Amino acid sequence: MCGIVGYIGPKEAVPILLSGLKRLEYRGYDSAGIAVISCGKIHSRKIPGKINDLIGVIAKEPLPKAGLGIAHTRWATHGAPNKVNAHPHSSCDRKISVVHNGIIENYLKLKESLISEGHRFVSQTDTEVLAHLIEKFYKGDLKDAVIEAIKKVEGSFALGVVSADEPDKIVCARQDSPLIVAEGRAGRFIASDVPAILEHCRRVVYLKDREVAVLDNNGIRVFDLNKREVRFKFDRVLMGAQSAQKGGFPHFMLKEIHEQPAVLKRLLSSGAREIRRFSYPRKIKNIVIVACGTAYHAGLVGKYIIESLARIPVAVDLSSEFRYRDPIVDKGTLVLAISQSGETADTLAAVREAKKKGACVVSICNVVGSSLTRESDHVFYTLAGPEIGVASTKAYTAQLAVLYMFGLELARSLKTISQNSFKASWKVLNSIPALQAEILKAHRSVEKVGRKHHKFGSFLFLGRNINFPSALEGALKLKEISYIPAEGYAAGEMKHGPIALIDEYRAVVCIAVSSRIYDKMISNIQEIKARSGKLIAIASAGDKAIRTHVSETIFIPKIDEFFSPLLVALPLQMLAYTIAVSRKCPVDQPRNLAKSVTVE
Ligand code: F6R
Repeated sequence: MCGIVGYIGPKEAVPILLSGLKRLEYRGYDSAGIAVISCGKIHSRKIPGKINDLIGVIAKEPLPKAGLGIAHTRWATHGAPNKVNAHPHSSCDRKISVVHNGIIENYLKLKESLISEGHRFVSQTDTEVLAHLIEKFYKGDLKDAVIEAIKKVEGSFALGVVSADEPDKIVCARQDSPLIVAEGRAGRFIASDVPAILEHCRRVVYLKDREVAVLDNNGIRVFDLNKREVRFKFDRVLMGAQSAQKGGFPHFMLKEIHEQPAVLKRLLSSGAREIRRFSYPRKIKNIVIVACGTAYHAGLVGKYIIESLARIPVAVDLSSEFRYRDPIVDKGTLVLAISQSGETADTLAAVREAKKKGACVVSICNVVGSSLTRESDHVFYTLAGPEIGVASTKAYTAQLAVLYMFGLELARSLKTISQNSFKASWKVLNSIPALQAEILKAHRSVEKVGRKHHKFGSFLFLGRNINFPSALEGALKLKEISYIPAEGYAAGEMKHGPIALIDEYRAVVCIAVSSRIYDKMISNIQEIKARSGKLIAIASAGDKAIRTHVSETIFIPKIDEFFSPLLVALPLQMLAYTIAVSRKCPVDQPRNLAKSVTVE
């Protein structure tokens, strides 16, 4: 949901800002803009479209050399993605320029009153009120004006602000939207996320809510809203610059699919240590999992895992539903919040609601220093490294792995698992990275199926038991990157409605891995076959009989059904990827989407 970047230092600002924006493009990509200060004047370029379009415009109409600037890549909330609504936004006198990620909820009221005071607005955005408010409060100190302005706004923001009257500083501030400040030999930076600055530095400050930072050539200073200077500490970023690059793959999504065995290996060693060390509350009555999208599907698998291992009731809620329905949660509830980004607005709101009701909140998160990690009582990191492709892949299997380890350790602490099964389960988990690598090696078989089916107008994904959520996730992956309507269903529900959809134009992906309910799945497959549905099965290696039931089969290594979601996810991701590529879809940046959903 929008990415912002800012730079001040001895180097040429424009290329630094553009390359930072490229690294943030996953956050939104419908329009972009940049502003730099040179000779006491703000110069800007804005475009509808992607960063490459902005680069093209700057090549034709170069910006002056400058050592300071701010830039923005947008995912539109208020106002169409056109040039006027693209950031940066300016004050009436064009001396103040603002980039913003978030939503100003009371912008209409503020806009009306600013208009009545004589301010002239040009865009339909909520952000523009910030530029005018800062102008209104400006009395020669940009920091003070920003503080006065943000005291008036309701909503979420990460802001970068520059002023032509103070051409040697950037002021930034945040509330409920991510923002880092960083420092290196190349200069000082602000950014929505770490990948934007990785090329240049490793020392970052994760700004807290309602903090304001001033960056100039002398350093970084942080203030609270009472204008008192506050202490801050630098964190060292450990990830390498290459982790935010494609590494020879045509798309981030494909690279991230292929990273899964390595991510899992890392989790099973260093991640597992953390999960073992956690002191599991003995008195929990119930567990509630809150998450959105793919993370929600991981949560659904988590319900099967935890209930089966620890015999504690688990409810799984979409964060956006949980927060508004006065959920039954109290001190005896453990809330597990799952999020790749740690910035999903609904999940953060759900966590706040749960904490208000006295629940203990444990999060499963990928992004170090994100809002979720700061607001949780405890965090298990998924250690997947930056996930740039908009469609979540490696973060999903990493979330699953954490849930398996969590379930096992909880069961051990509650004594609901025998020592032998505990050991045997860990043995299976440790075998998964190699099995995932085997699946990736056999990618051609999945690609063949994908290419053959890329013209189908709709897909159905069916699974049962612990692979019912896998079916939901397979359908989500396909629809978000290929735009093909796809639904996931519990196979047992077919006869209660969805079977009416089956005809020769519908492709049906059935997850039919070895399990105690394999025969039931085969009956469902027969019912689809009898109605001419085009069947694709995901089956276990060695299942010769499956070929007599379906025309296309993708085999995965045989494994205990309980752990199979960790394998099933991979062919489903690869299938969606191949189909989307065959349809020439922009896999890493599907239309209308953004990587982290920081607005409701
Ligand atoms: C789908 C996808 C989304 C996210 C969802 C939650 O591929 O990526 O559905 O899973 O927006 O995001 P996080 O996990 O960052 O809270």
